[in-house]
Amino acid sequence: MALFIPENKILEIKNTADIVSIISETVLLKKAGANYVGLCPFHSEKTPSFTVSPDKQIFHCFGCGAGGNIFSFLMKQNAISFAEAAGMLAKRYGIEIPHQGMSPGRKRRISERENLFDINQKALAFFQHVLVEDLRGKKALEYLTKRGIVNETIQRFNIGYAPEGWGNLKNYFQKKKVSLTLVEKSGLISPNKNQSGFYDRFRDRIIFPIIDVNMRVIGFGGRVMDNSQPKYLNSPETSIYNKSRSLYGLNLAKQTCRAHKSVYIVEGYFDLLALYQHGIQNVVATLGTALTSEHIHLLKGYADKMILVYDSDQAGIKAAQRCIDVFLKEHVNFKKEDVFKKENVDTRIMVLPAGHDPDSYIFEFGADVFISAAEKAPGIISFLMDTTIKKHGLSIEGKIHIIADMKEILASIDDSVARSLYIKELSERIQVDENVVLEKVREISVQGTGVTAKAKSLSFVSTKDLKNVNNLKIPREEDLQDRGSKLERQIIAMMLQFPEILFEISIRRVLNHFEDNLLKSIGKIILEYKEGLSEQSRAAISKSQLDDYVCGIINSIDDNEKRCIVTALAIKENPWDRSGCLKLIAQFEGGRNRLKDDLLNKIRAAEEDNDHELLIKLLQEKQKLAVLNEKQKPAQKERINF
Ligand code: GTP
Ligand code: MN
Repeated sequence: MALFIPENKILEIKNTADIVSIISETVLLKKAGANYVGLCPFHSEKTPSFTVSPDKQIFHCFGCGAGGNIFSFLMKQNAISFAEAAGMLAKRYGIEIPHQGMSPGRKRRISERENLFDINQKALAFFQHVLVEDLRGKKALEYLTKRGIVNETIQRFNIGYAPEGWGNLKNYFQKKKVSLTLVEKSGLISPNKNQSGFYDRFRDRIIFPIIDVNMRVIGFGGRVMDNSQPKYLNSPETSIYNKSRSLYGLNLAKQTCRAHKSVYIVEGYFDLLALYQHGIQNVVATLGTALTSEHIHLLKGYADKMILVYDSDQAGIKAAQRCIDVFLKEHVNFKKEDVFKKENVDTRIMVLPAGHDPDSYIFEFGADVFISAAEKAPGIISFLMDTTIKKHGLSIEGKIHIIADMKEILASIDDSVARSLYIKELSERIQVDENVVLEKVREISVQGTGVTAKAKSLSFVSTKDLKNVNNLKIPREEDLQDRGSKLERQIIAMMLQFPEILFEISIRRVLNHFEDNLLKSIGKIILEYKEGLSEQSRAAISKSQLDDYVCGIINSIDDNEKRCIVTALAIKENPWDRSGCLKLIAQFEGGRNRLKDDLLNKIRAAEEDNDHELLIKLLQEKQKLAVLNEKQKPAQKERINF
């Protein structure tokens, strides 16, 4: 790994930042012995297998195999580079990092992102200033007041106003000597048709800054104050703004979501502001885009109950279907498990009375009515059942249509208990024999065997996703158990957890006898890592500084598979001591000697049987073993000299 951030800075960041508190910002963690556990943010699961070790400052998921240290976590979570992750932590903890030795391309990409954050922050200040302190903002303030938005909300959400005119923001940046080509990248200005200059994207609009959970301004939305079109205009996607990953308001909602373990998902800016102002602060908005699996993943870190609030049956149906889609897709992507069960994500669909959206509803009826309506909101499947029954009615024809509409949905529920409960519910509600419904659902299930075929038949999953499933090469707990012999795994775990023993491993050339090449190369990385340390740091690797040591090893590994194996072996708690370690090594070496004895016996037998072919093969093996043992000898001498 090209370390363009000096080692001492990385250590400084690592020592200042705490993995538990950083991960806690996005994952609900519970204490379990020396570690913390929670639901993995990188795959769908219902029982927590995501483990964080405060002592070693690493995380590992025993479900999907993801693992690493605080840097790897941020990298994976935000799809950013090591340098960006380090930079993010450095910034947060006030550690200054020199920008030296980066490759020019990398430097450019990182600084572009930094520049975009900076430009957006400046634009936010401009819009906010115009709204609150400029005469031009008067009518925008009046509009907000008319819609019931109070000053405190305006402040808290940094709402602003982009004044009329084509070049206000452009001129502001020009005056600040910010390169306009750079500002163009943020989408805040666009080039004129004749390429002779730039014009402002947002003109005469109320501005809603979109801020991420790290409190960085990633984009903007702007609403007109009359009936002109488009009603809303958003920033285009940029290297810092990805619509399918962003949720408006999550920066302010995250604490409350965590406290309530639930989140309301609404569609619009004003819906969110209205709920927030009425004290319902665990609310985020999807901003016109459909809910994606990335949104769900993001929210799962804060809440396990999600209430989708829609303004009409039609919108609700679409969203509910889309949800099944999203959940099924996630699950195909990762692991077989029931996605509709309450232990996982409890997803409710709340549809408001005709003519209302969350904004108008809560202003008219208040928070208590809203909350009690939310409590009655049905789950996705029940909701779809309700709407289908309403749509077709309970005539004979209607019932046939209902079953036809519901059978695919029911077939897509993988958990057999949940599925049979829903089948029972449907058959009771429409008064049709349970077995008849069951049979119809079965017809669908057998059309494709396995999740993959089923998903294909429902066209829920793109072939690209399916390919990814097959290519998924992250080791899981089961895979790890097949990885080398148990003794080899234990030795690597010991090397990670009891570094004192490295000396012994090295002089006895224990790794030379490893059969599993991957484990062997991991062992070598560990030894090399120790060799590369200064005398002082080497002396400092004691139990108390184990996290520095493990962190350093992880940072020196580029290969994902190896890194995940390292975290898996490092994170398990084993009370190592010197004599236990020596015993383990002796046991491993004993195994090797038994191999030698075995070989000698076989050679003798082959000689007796006059089996020349076998004899030659066995002698070759013996030769190989002898070479290995020869290599070991000088090392043992060294040991005596020590
Ligand atoms: P208000 O009319 O201000 O109350 O907005 P709303 O939130 O009730 O609007 P609506 O239900 O029409 O839309 C919900 C969300 O979809 C909005 O908050 C926007 O994020 C988005 N949206 C609505 N209209 C447009 C549009 O014309 N263009 C874009 N890009 N997004 C829109
Ligand atoms: Mn509205």
